[in-house]
Amino acid sequence: MLRIFSIVFIAVITLVVGVLGFRGEKFSEPPRRLFPDMDEMDYVDAQTNSSYFADGMGARIPVAGTQPRGFENGGDVQFSGDATYYTSGAIGDYFGNGLPEELELDKESVVALVNRGKERYAIYCAVCHGEGADGKGIVTNYQFPNVANLLESRFASNTYPDGQLFNVISEGKGLMSGYAYNIPVKDRWAIIAYIRSLQAAK
Ligand code: HEC
Repeated sequence: MLRIFSIVFIAVITLVVGVLGFRGEKFSEPPRRLFPDMDEMDYVDAQTNSSYFADGMGARIPVAGTQPRGFENGGDVQFSGDATYYTSGAIGDYFGNGLPEELELDKESVVALVNRGKERYAIYCAVCHGEGADGKGIVTNYQFPNVANLLESRFASNTYPDGQLFNVISEGKGLMSGYAYNIPVKDRWAIIAYIRSLQAAK
């Protein structure tokens, strides 16, 4: 009897102290953490100094030749908020069709654009959609499902406008992720021009 009483008594004390005790107390020592998770990390707070760098500045200037997220190659901001056809593929509530005038295309530069698109397509799209855009890229050999065959007539420009292509490249769709952070705006249009040339060739 006494044994059961002591066990219950100790359990109740532990519970009461555990739940109510040591609440809101201030300690001068850092707490002992059994599971530190990521409570403490060696990051630099915004706008503060850092003794880690020789010049003492916490905020770093981007390394020469690197491209910060959200900026075009030339240093222009990529997401300016005022979405034009060139930066969004949409005109109002609808997808537009045709290559935007910002590309300032003439007979020579359109060839260069398609060539650039070919190169970018091979880098970013071919693994899934295949070199010829038939949806049979290398990943499909390894059970990657549902890759769209871009040569199907539903992706032709009269049913699937350029602006919609731009939107899918930027935002992604279904199992395909968006490439807004990887592919600059102009290169997205270059890829579109190349896909159109593949469709026309077919
Ligand atoms: C990781 C594989 C992968 C990559 C890389 C990829 N796609 Fe896709 N893409 C898919 C899949 C999967 C779908 C089908 C998405 C769905 O409908 O669920 C798709 C669908 C599409 C569609 C049709 C969307 C629709 O409206 O049905 C277009 C257009 C497209 N991709 C273009 C591109 C272009 C251009 C690139 C290169 C910039 C690219 N994709 C890169 C996997 C990929």
